[in-house]
Parts: sequence; structure tokens; C-alpha cells
Amino acid sequence: MRKRSTPSTSVKERVHTIGILTSGGDCPGLNAVIRAVTRGVAREGVEVFGILEGFKGMVENRYIRLTPSETSGLLTVGGTILRTSRIKPNKFPTPNGGVRDMTGAAVETYRRLNLDCLVCLGGGGTQKSAYHLMKEGRLNVITLPKTIDNDVYGTDVCFGFDTGMSIAAEAIDRLHTTASSHHRVMLVDVMGNKAGWLALAAGVASGADVILIPEIPYSLDVVAQSLLDRMRHGKMFSIVAVAEGARPRSNARRSQKDGRSQGTGKGTTAAGGLALTKEPLSVILAAHLEKVTGLETRVTSLGHLQRGGIPTPTDRILCTAFGTKAAELILTRQFGNMVAKRGEEFVAVPLKDVVGKKRLVPLDHPLIKAARATGVCLGDVWEST
Ligand code: F6P
Repeated sequence: MRKRSTPSTSVKERVHTIGILTSGGDCPGLNAVIRAVTRGVAREGVEVFGILEGFKGMVENRYIRLTPSETSGLLTVGGTILRTSRIKPNKFPTPNGGVRDMTGAAVETYRRLNLDCLVCLGGGGTQKSAYHLMKEGRLNVITLPKTIDNDVYGTDVCFGFDTGMSIAAEAIDRLHTTASSHHRVMLVDVMGNKAGWLALAAGVASGADVILIPEIPYSLDVVAQSLLDRMRHGKMFSIVAVAEGARPRSNARRSQKDGRSQGTGKGTTAAGGLALTKEPLSVILAAHLEKVTGLETRVTSLGHLQRGGIPTPTDRILCTAFGTKAAELILTRQFGNMVAKRGEEFVAVPLKDVVGKKRLVPLDHPLIKAARATGVCLGDVWEST
């Protein structure tokens, strides 16, 4: 192992070695960030270790060496070459199904590799784990906001969102032609966890007729009425984009309280004037809308398709800029920060201001106004001014 001598101030301030990991659900653009960070710091002679499978690899001391040439061709590659996991260092799964605090083992890997900083790419959970290692393990960390859900607090946008949104929008475009050919109602399940960014943006981009998001609990009657109104105007098909966390009005308070999502495909319980059942929400909704409109109804679940494949050019640019800013923060030892995009700028936001918060869609967001103004039903009773 390379020994670090007791350096003079200037030598001591130089960063020699960093680790980088990807944690949580994957998304297109992770490799583009890995590439930008590696290239950005390697120019200054910094050695880079890629930690495998997120914090699991930190605990288990598993890593690879990354050089600029090894990041060649990564810009357009989806997924993550480092692989990922949702494992937290302080709640590490044990063989008997329990969890154990393995913070010490993660710190040990950091020390063994002689790291000056651990760069963590991930969503809300990752920010939390990185903050934990910073506070409890006294590690230098820098984080970047990744998620198709676009819900990391403190940044205007997360990388991966544009790609997930584009995939969902293209899918809804395709559903339009088949819906109109068959005179059907098409419900589309869109991911997004407890935030509606993905469904809202994809729905607006592809002209969905109804968009249901967690931030606006919906009324079944309002949704049904909007489809009947369309039929009265000769529109014999409709597209309903349903966000994973969308929930009916009567159920909103309870699901907010117990923190449960009315998510799709996870067997969660849905109500809202309908019988309690383990069916995914969109399936129940579809059955009801079919009864009310008399139109055949189908459900499409986009699921993990939204996280697959190559990042869009917009995400590739964003990831390269995010990674470049992270490299700048590393080289200038501005640790304990998340890289955020604010307007046109990439800035450092203290990690303590990010953790434990979620960025939901504000009810006065321009996209909500635009949806309403163009006649989209958001499932609530809304009076235009
Ligand atoms: O956070 C990204 C996301 O795709 C969410 O939209 C979704 O709720 C969740 O991850 C799915 O998780 P998993 O990949 O573990 O099924």
C-alpha cells in the first residue's frame, strides 16, 4: 500500500486518490459522469478507484482502477460499469435476514485505498448514506444527483431524468396511434416514486389527455367526466398518464401519513371510492373508466424500460458538466457538497441542506400551468381564472 508521508501544507492539500461509486437504481448517464470525473481529476495526476456495487463494495473492499483510457466510449453507454445496489453501509444485510452497521468496514476501505475523497452518484438514499459516512466516518465526500425521478432536493434537475422522460414520451406517442385506431382509453404507468416530474413532463410532451401525479390527489369522478367530455367532442380515445405515486383524493391523507406510495406494479393498496384491493392502481382505475365511458381500456406499464439504454444528448451534456464541476470541487477540496444545477450554473450545495428532503412538483410550476392551459385534466377540480 502506498504510504502518505507527513506533507508540507501545499503537498498535503493536493488530492492524490479518489473513489467513485454509483448507488440506488441505475439510470442512463451514470457512465458519462464517471467518465467526466475520471478525466477531470486524472489531468491533475489523481488516481481513481471505481468502487463496485455502491456502498456494498465499500464495505466489502471491492473496486477496480479507472484511468481516462478506460472511460473511452462510456459517454453513450447506459447503466453503470461499476454496477449498483441499494445497500446502505449502516444497514448492511446479514445472511439471517437482519441488518448490521458496517460503517466501520466502509471507512476501512477508504483508509486502505488512501482515498482523499469518495464521490457518490445517486438519488435521495445515496445522499443520505454519503452524509452518514461524512458525519460518522469522517470521510470526505462529494455527491451528484442522479435519478429519473428528478426529485433530489437542492438542484433544478437530476441527470437521467431527460432520458427517462424521453422514453416515456415516446411510448405515449406510440400509444396515441393505437388508442385512436381502436377507440380505446390507454392508461400508462410512469415511474417517479413519490414525485410527479416524470409523468407530468412526459405527459405534456406527448399530449396526454389526463395526467395524474402524487402532488395533486385526483378525483375519480373528475377523471371520468373529462373522458366523457372528450367523447362529446368526438374524441373517442384518451391517454391517461399515471405517475407511480399518484393517489385518489380520499386516500391522500392516509398515504401521506404512512408514507406509502400508491405505486404501480408493487401490489400496493388502492382505494378512493373503490373497493380496497391489492391490484395496481392503474388497473382499478382502468376498470372504472371502462365502465363509465363504455370504451375499451388498456394498461401499459413502462417500468424499468424508462431506465434502460443510451442517455439522450441533453443528459450526456448535463452529465459531462456535472462531472466536470465535481472534478473541480475535488481538486479544490470543497468536500461535503452535492453538485447542483441552478439556472445555467453548476454549484456546490452543502450536503446537510440536501439530505432528508424531496423535490416535489410545486403546484404553481409552469408545467402544471401549461398542462391546464392546454386542456389537460390533472384529476382535480380547477377553475380557470
Ligand atoms: O428511483 C428510480 C426508480 O426507478 C423509481 O422511479 C422507482 O420507484 C424505483 O426506482 C424502482 O426501483 P427498483 O429498480 O428497485 O425496482
